[in-house]
Amino acid sequence: MLNKANPKFQKSQSALRNALRLIPLGAQTFSRSHTQFPEGHSPLFATKGKGSKIWDVDGNEYIDMLSGLNSVILGYQDPDVDSAIKDQLSKGITFSLSTELELELAALLVDLIPCAEMVRYGKNGSDCTTGAISLARHITKKERVAVCGYHGWHEWYVASTSMDGGIPLAVKELTHAFRYNDISSLEALFKKYPEEFAAIIMEPMNSDEPKDDFLQKVKDLTHKHGALFIFDEVITGFRFALGGAQELFNVTPDLAIFGKAMGNGMPISVLVGKEKYMKHIEEVFFSSTFGAESLSLAASIVTIKKLRDKKVLEYTWAYGEKLKDAVQTIIDKHDLGYVMVLRGLAPWVIISFKETPQISQNALRTFFQKEMINEGIFILSSHNITLSFDEKDFQKIKNAYEKILPKMALSLKEKNLIERLESPILEPVFTVRKG
Ligand SMILES: Cc1ncc(COP(=O)(O)O)c(C=O)c1O
Repeated sequence: MLNKANPKFQKSQSALRNALRLIPLGAQTFSRSHTQFPEGHSPLFATKGKGSKIWDVDGNEYIDMLSGLNSVILGYQDPDVDSAIKDQLSKGITFSLSTELELELAALLVDLIPCAEMVRYGKNGSDCTTGAISLARHITKKERVAVCGYHGWHEWYVASTSMDGGIPLAVKELTHAFRYNDISSLEALFKKYPEEFAAIIMEPMNSDEPKDDFLQKVKDLTHKHGALFIFDEVITGFRFALGGAQELFNVTPDLAIFGKAMGNGMPISVLVGKEKYMKHIEEVFFSSTFGAESLSLAASIVTIKKLRDKKVLEYTWAYGEKLKDAVQTIIDKHDLGYVMVLRGLAPWVIISFKETPQISQNALRTFFQKEMINEGIFILSSHNITLSFDEKDFQKIKNAYEKILPKMALSLKEKNLIERLESPILEPVFTVRKG
């Protein structure tokens, strides 16, 4: 139920009404749908992006801290990437044969990613996480998988979530979740189903840093039980380090999946791994029409070379760190640490709200998002830093926090935060990252 819709989102609201008649959910992705943004107080449809900014259908401009769901690392309309795409477009898009672009990108990936000896491409992260699981099942001749984090929309993974509609029981029974930084939760699975696991797949890190050698312990335990050790680096890849979290934490998996940032917004993902495993993918059905679409391959080559040669990650790390420190200072100044915590590493800081007896974390997140959007900062619940974020953006983001956090503190003190929302409290689709 819409309370007081802000007139500056009139066109977004009308596009949503039309969309909902034609498109269930009104969007193609949960995290860019109307269910994730304060009702009547958020843009819902974009018209363009440039650098760190996006514009909505009403003509409002925002600093986009969501960065195309983390798929953009250089910024929108990066001139080098765009010119590579245009150049390739003049030659064609999808051919009836492979192209040498596939080799060029493969060589770059093998050079940069510690576990990569061979590669296969997909379009979405989910294509390649699914390819990795099929490959592990094929190699080990075992069926169970253990998961930790988010790994895409395919059956074998969503079977482990609360959003498991349409998934056969037989599939659900084979997927088990374990907890990050809790090795005993994985030990318990191996104990319950000895030698039955094909693979352990995990995000090497999202909101919490690995503690007490956790990643190495998972690797050792996985190998001890004859399973393959897989890192889902769809977000951490090309964001934490060029070689992903495996390079940063110096723990090399058997297989890994990269996606998102590698194409600066173009649809491309990759399954990489050791030759002794990867060569068996020929025996698994991993094959698609658009797997070798050439605009994305060309974009990815240029993106990765630019990340490598222009020291982009040094910039995004330093920027993210500076922003994290500035925001932490504001949190501390207003004594909000009991409800708001910054987690994760500088290039991908996750803002986590805490439940209190007085207020729910979802109410806090709704308030925060609505107020940030009102200040021209488009945000979900993380700082997804790109090369295009500049000093002016920094000041604008900092000013927004400086304006909003005292309001949050005051409304918590006066116990009227919910009345100030003017929109229903948002619910996450499901939670896999610490909220
Ligand atoms: C860690 C991780 N793995 C896999 C995926 C799935 O990628 P895609 O949505 O491109 O299929 C995502 C998407 O957000 C992700 O964050």
